[in-house]
Amino acid sequence: MCGIVGCLGFKNPREYVLNGLKTLDYRGYDSAGVAYYNDGIRIYKDVGAVEHLMEIVPQDIKTEIMIGHTRWATHGVPNVANTHPHISKHKKICLVHNGVIENYEDVKKFLISKHYDFYGDTDSEIVANLIEHYYLSENDILDSLKKCMFVLKGSYALAIICSDYPDEMFIMKNGSPLVIGKGDGFNFVASDASPMIKYTDAFIELNDQEYGRITKNSVEVFDANGVKVTKKLIKKDIESISHDLKGYPHYMLKEIEEIPQTIKRLLETYVKDGKYTFDKTLLNKLKESDHIMFIACGTSYHSSLVGGRYFEHYGKSTSKYIASEWAFDPVFPGNKPFIILISQSGETADLIHCLKIIKENNYESLILTNTGGSTLDRNCTYSLLLHAGIEVSVASTKAYVAQVTLLALLADAVADNPKVIEDLNSVLPLIDEIQTSYKPKIMEIANAIKKKEHLFYLGRSYDYFLSMEASLKLKEVSYIHSEAIPGGELKHGPIALIEQDTPVIVFITDHHTALPMRGNIREVQARGAKVYVIATERVATETDNIVVKNYPYYLSSVVVSSIAFYLAYYVTIEKGYNVDKPRNLAKSVTVE
Ligand code: AGP
Repeated sequence: MCGIVGCLGFKNPREYVLNGLKTLDYRGYDSAGVAYYNDGIRIYKDVGAVEHLMEIVPQDIKTEIMIGHTRWATHGVPNVANTHPHISKHKKICLVHNGVIENYEDVKKFLISKHYDFYGDTDSEIVANLIEHYYLSENDILDSLKKCMFVLKGSYALAIICSDYPDEMFIMKNGSPLVIGKGDGFNFVASDASPMIKYTDAFIELNDQEYGRITKNSVEVFDANGVKVTKKLIKKDIESISHDLKGYPHYMLKEIEEIPQTIKRLLETYVKDGKYTFDKTLLNKLKESDHIMFIACGTSYHSSLVGGRYFEHYGKSTSKYIASEWAFDPVFPGNKPFIILISQSGETADLIHCLKIIKENNYESLILTNTGGSTLDRNCTYSLLLHAGIEVSVASTKAYVAQVTLLALLADAVADNPKVIEDLNSVLPLIDEIQTSYKPKIMEIANAIKKKEHLFYLGRSYDYFLSMEASLKLKEVSYIHSEAIPGGELKHGPIALIEQDTPVIVFITDHHTALPMRGNIREVQARGAKVYVIATERVATETDNIVVKNYPYYLSSVVVSSIAFYLAYYVTIEKGYNVDKPRNLAKSVTVE
């Protein structure tokens, strides 16, 4: 994962680089560092978050060129030696790296044979030395980068400074994102546009296997053969990528409360005058296919379970795969499968790996993503944007609801049966009501479970899919171990774990499953479980903890997910943890 930034010619490089790293720390926050040129390369780095780095980097830096990095450790523990920037043995090359070099051990052996030694355990330090090795033997920095691109296997986005070229920054990209921001008399680089949007709205997105040279007034990009590439300028607006908390204490809370406007925006984007505006060719491809495959990770995988069921109800056969599983045993069921990838970030490495396999097998693909211009957005055959606005909190909330909503609309459009539009409009006031009036009841459950180590979520059908997402959300931010179990599966094993006072949170929002779910509640209560029920009016009983007005049952992930998200949020706040940046995680999982 990791976030990288760099600037040339900017009047206050310290401000851009440190604030930029703060903006990018959703990508990792184990350790952070900066490097700049002032009569030689100077480096400041340490373990800990960017806030700590801000304390150790001098205020009065004089330089034209600076790079920075915030790390999510892959090779080597988070310690000072492994923290970026990394400098080569002869101090010629200093760089920041996002990605994973797969053949770093072979490259390391090669460099050892050339009398190089290493101060840390990272693959990135090896890249700095490889560039230096070629540079010292041939004295041509651009050619050294090209040679490295042939040698290195894996993913990298690199911002590089060379002590012999204090006015130039060098870049290289493969598999990890890198964006250039163009200013007037200054230029930036970063892992995404968010650190730069305050200062420029003009961007250049690099493709894989491209490298280049940036000065304060120019940008040159080359392909792997060294041929100069003409890049187009892309305009982005500040609203779509602003990290402003808008008065909220945390991004997670802000993003949960943006769910209603996210649904409205999707309806405005994909429906005009009661008719769907989806690309006709895409709809035809979906209609003509005899099987729809979904591939995704984490929360996005959970939305594929709901979306897949929507298509199945319209008579389509589907399969849903976890990207990191499918990639190592790829299958293409059916005679004419159509493949839908889902990714909030559009940069998830496991999914990019899958896309490579899909392309090698000559299949088309559709990506549902929140990030226009991301790797998956640019490289899939079709793309539908989630229009959820930037999601900063590591825990995905509004993007999940956007994914499910968009899949409901898409399935409906394929079936030529625009019923979902009316249903989605009808649940908007209900979500507003949950968000304005239900918090005290949710907090009661949060207080009751916050000291528990383990708990279970139960549901059936759509409520089971919702339980899976509720469980993931709770565990990733509150560190309470939780598991989602389909009601009917309880007695096939998991009920053995129910003891006196084990918390069991149950969703019963679907009248088709209410009866057996009540049976499941009796079963766990008989073993001492403490049960908390979230039900709809139609199937509620007097003792249920939260009762929601009735709505079309297939939309439980759109409506009741807010309750699950608030619950995870409040438990975490009560426990005093960092809800937006849970330990060991990063927003964009750009390593496999
Ligand atoms: C969500 O809360 C998680 N942080 C995580 O599971 C996430 O959904 C997963 O990493 C997939 O990310 P993507 O949607 O950006 O591909």
